[in-house]
Amino acid sequence: MTAGTTAPGRAQISARTLRTDRWWVQPAVTVLVLVAFIIYATIRAFANDYYYSAPYISPFYSPCLSTSCVPGSGEVALFGDWWKLSPALIILIFPLGFRLTCYYYRKAYFRGFWMSPPACAVAEPHGKYTGERRFPLVLNNLHRYFFYIGLIFNVILTYDAVIAFRDSSGAWGHMGLGTLVLLANAALLWLYSLSCHSCRHVMGGRLTHFSKHPVRYKAWTFVSKLNTRHMAFAWASLIGVAVADLYVALVAGGTITDLRFF
Ligand code: FES
Repeated sequence: MTAGTTAPGRAQISARTLRTDRWWVQPAVTVLVLVAFIIYATIRAFANDYYYSAPYISPFYSPCLSTSCVPGSGEVALFGDWWKLSPALIILIFPLGFRLTCYYYRKAYFRGFWMSPPACAVAEPHGKYTGERRFPLVLNNLHRYFFYIGLIFNVILTYDAVIAFRDSSGAWGHMGLGTLVLLANAALLWLYSLSCHSCRHVMGGRLTHFSKHPVRYKAWTFVSKLNTRHMAFAWASLIGVAVADLYVALVAGGTITDLRFF
C-alpha cells in the first residue's frame, strides 16, 4: 500500500484507533439523518401532488414553472407543457447541488458514508487518496456557482413566505401556522447561505487591505460570525425545508387544517 495509514514511513500501529470515546456516533447520526431526508425528498419529488394549498406552496415545488402545475401555484409557465414529470425533479437539482458541494456536508458525508476518514484519529479503510481532483469529486469546485443559484431560490422562497400573508382570495392580512412555517424555512435558508464559506470569500477574499474596503470588511465580519455556526444552519435548514414541505403536503391533502391566527 502506497498511501493511507499503513503506508511505508507511517507509524506502524495495528489498532484502527486509540480513541476510547464514542467517535462513531456523529458519522452514524449523519448517515441516518441524510438517508432519511433522501428517502423523504425522493418520495415527495416524484409524488407531483399535494404541494400547493393556497396561499402555501411547498419549497420542493417552487418556483412551479410548468403548465402542468396546480392552478395558482406557478406564476410563470416557463417550461410550457412539454415537461410532463414532476416540476420538483428539475427544481431540486439546484438545492441538491448546493448541499452536495457544501464544505460542511462534504466533511459530513466523507466521514459518514465513505469513512474517509470516519473521524479524527481513526484510520480510514482506503489505501488510496486522490482528493477532489478527479470526476466526480472535482465537481465540488462548482460550489460557488451553486451558492449564487441558491440565492435566487432564497429570494423566491422568501417571496412565497411573504405572499402567504394573503388569504386564498388574494387579500392581505392572513396569517396561519403555514405562514410561520414558510417564514422560518426562508430565514433558515438565508442563514445557511449567508454563513457559507464561499459567501465569506465573496465578501472579504483576496483583499490585501481591509482598511481600504470598510464595507466589505463589515460584511466579511458579519458573515464570519455566521460562518462559525454553519454546521448548525446546515442541519436546521435541511430539517426546516422538509418540515415546510410536509406541512404543505398535510394541509393540501386534507390530513390537517391550517391553524389560522388571523
Ligand atoms: Fe456550506 Fe457553502 S460551505 S453552503
